[in-house]
Amino acid sequence: MSESIFKVLVLHGPNLNLTGFREPDVYGKKPLDDIDDDIKAECARLNIESRIIQSNSEGILIDTIQEHRKWADGIVINPGGLTHYSIALRDALSSVRLPVVEVHLSNVHAREEFRHKSVIAPVCVGQVVGFGGFGYVLAIQALLNLQKEVV
Ligand code: DQA
Repeated sequence: MSESIFKVLVLHGPNLNLTGFREPDVYGKKPLDDIDDDIKAECARLNIESRIIQSNSEGILIDTIQEHRKWADGIVINPGGLTHYSIALRDALSSVRLPVVEVHLSNVHAREEFRHKSVIAPVCVGQVVGFGGFGYVLAIQALLNLQKEVV
């Protein structure tokens, strides 16, 4: 087996465990497990090592980011509702000094005004919004491409 070239931590925040069930007209019908299978398939195709974690707890997300500080080469995160107010999550992401891509299943900019603001976005290299679960695949490709440009 060839050596992994890149390690990515994928984080799903609060309520994303209900994806497929909750507001399917907004977030899509695909369950999170199926989205995770697509992420794993893409990582296998690109020879990327991945760890995928969902938590409804801000503290667990922060602990997970800190714990993967030395393991990960990049982070893909859908912070769910924490996007719009969690300074603690933002501080955790900026502390670990890894490239971060923010993902949202829905196009948050076409929704309620309170969803237009992300306190996380300023510490990210970019955002992928509005493409459902495929957004994670795009985010992983973007991180890998970024690393190739840097090396
Ligand atoms: C979300 C958008 C957030 O505003 C919302 O609170 C979520 C899901 C998305 O993926 O579209 O929980 O992050």
